[in-house]
Amino acid sequence: MTDFSMVGPRFAGGPAIEEPWAPDLTFVPPNLTPDNSTGHIVDWSEDQFVARFRAGASIEGSPMDWRMFARMSETDLRAIYRYLMSLDPVHNDTGPTVRPRADG
Ligand code: HEM
Repeated sequence: MTDFSMVGPRFAGGPAIEEPWAPDLTFVPPNLTPDNSTGHIVDWSEDQFVARFRAGASIEGSPMDWRMFARMSETDLRAIYRYLMSLDPVHNDTGPTVRPRADG
């Protein structure tokens, strides 16, 4: 059972999530703060961010509900992007967003 306690700096990635429908995989939410070396979207333009959300899931079984997020308004997505880019950078390397389960 995944522990969803929010630990560590906000928006900086993790903790790992395991889902019953993907028994061999562990998913890790990326660091969304604008840290130059570990920020997952630091090199994305605002347009790329919107396009990424419109595209839906790229990793099968992801716990992030991309079908829902793909339907967010462009205004909301641009606001979220600008908010994330306004955060203090947090240096936190969370590694690959999907990886084999350690105990799998
Ligand atoms: C407005 C809310 C959210 C934003 C802005 C957001 C943003 C993002 C972004 C930009 C990525 C990287 C996608 C890529 O590399 O192509 C990502 C991946 C991910 N997110 Fe979210 N996310 C949100 C909500 C959530 C929620 C609610 C969860 C968990 C329940 C979640 C879990 C994950 C995970 C596990 C990944 C890595 C796997 C994947 O790329 O699908 N996210 N998120």
